[in-house]
Amino acid sequence: MATLFKDVWIIDGSRNLAERVHLLVSKGRIAEIKSYTENPPSADKIISGRGKMAVIPGFVNAHTHAAMTLLRGLGEEAPLMEWLQNKIWPVEDKLTPDYIYWGTLSAILEMLSTGTTCFADMYFEMDRVAEAVLSAGMRAALCRGITKGEPGKLERSLENNLDIAKKYHGREGLLTVQLGPHAPYTVPVEFMKVIAQAAKDNDLGVHFHYLETEGEKNSLPENYLEQADLLDVPHLTLAHSVYLDPEIKIDFENITLVHCPNSNLKLGSGIMPLNSWLERDVSVALGTDGASSNNKLDMWDEMRVTALIHKGVNKNPVIIPALDVLRMATYEGAKAFGFSQKGMISEGWVADLVLVDLDKPNYIGVNAENLATYLVYAGSSADVAGTMVNGKWLYLHGDYPTLDREEIINKAVEAREAITK
Ligand code: NI
Repeated sequence: MATLFKDVWIIDGSRNLAERVHLLVSKGRIAEIKSYTENPPSADKIISGRGKMAVIPGFVNAHTHAAMTLLRGLGEEAPLMEWLQNKIWPVEDKLTPDYIYWGTLSAILEMLSTGTTCFADMYFEMDRVAEAVLSAGMRAALCRGITKGEPGKLERSLENNLDIAKKYHGREGLLTVQLGPHAPYTVPVEFMKVIAQAAKDNDLGVHFHYLETEGEKNSLPENYLEQADLLDVPHLTLAHSVYLDPEIKIDFENITLVHCPNSNLKLGSGIMPLNSWLERDVSVALGTDGASSNNKLDMWDEMRVTALIHKGVNKNPVIIPALDVLRMATYEGAKAFGFSQKGMISEGWVADLVLVDLDKPNYIGVNAENLATYLVYAGSSADVAGTMVNGKWLYLHGDYPTLDREEIINKAVEAREAITK
């Protein structure tokens, strides 16, 4: 089935100018892009943009814990360690596989309605998370959060992560799997080496929290990544990296940093030196982190805050341009988790797309030169009219064609009540 976006604006992180085009989606891919002044290609379904809609790549939320939607609002306004130890971990102990399934689906509702087509999730009961993602028809990069605990827990968690990889890595083209040691403070360095070796043996990436707070920086050697044998795993994704030194002498070819500005601001962790990383040409993606530290799963918010805070703290309005932020929120995340040909609007690329309504007061004056800045500074998730993965609508004008919204919300409410009582 082919869908035609007739007379819409397109922009992505690689275009200096937006273009006004007809865009044809067929067999899950962007089949054709031609000027809106030419005759449109034929299609089964037509979305008529009349020059008042934009199509942008779907957002990739490069670091989150989806089921933590169930823990939103617990232990607000506390430092990271106090928040984790006193408020989050005791409640997480009460999560059942079913609760995680419904919590993940409720996160998926939220993400689809805000234009996210793919998310990188670190949690547990990842079988149920995979089931939730596949039932929605969404895309995700999954890793099992590996943490120390009773004897044998690290080993069992790694084994579970490897099982998840066997079952789901590459599944339906929608899922990839990474190994997910939670953080250096929850996984001893000796076991980090075991995980690094398993990543190399199984050709998997590694995704973990790194240098989120100043305290962590003070407790780890500067050459930690090298010491933990992590520098030569197939791909390394470092969430937060607030305190990673941009002068560090390592090769970043296979490393992506994930900037989570809202979570870092809310937990008072600090602000990563993003501009130094971009000057060094290091790949940086954007993530929300979990809904209990953000508290949204809204990539528009991450884009706007990213574009603003670095200008403010550096007293420099020309750094971190909107176009770079758009690229970080889309293409960079897809690339980090092994999804190729996703995150740009190009013929042959995968149709993971967001339809944005420009027929609104906040877009008056939008044109080819300024669409990216309008989206980042004046836009919000309230402008999302539709979200498509693999050429299929998963969200359109408030409806979720693949999901039962009422049931998901009811089940998530039940789960929330059960874990907090
Ligand atoms: Ni996190």
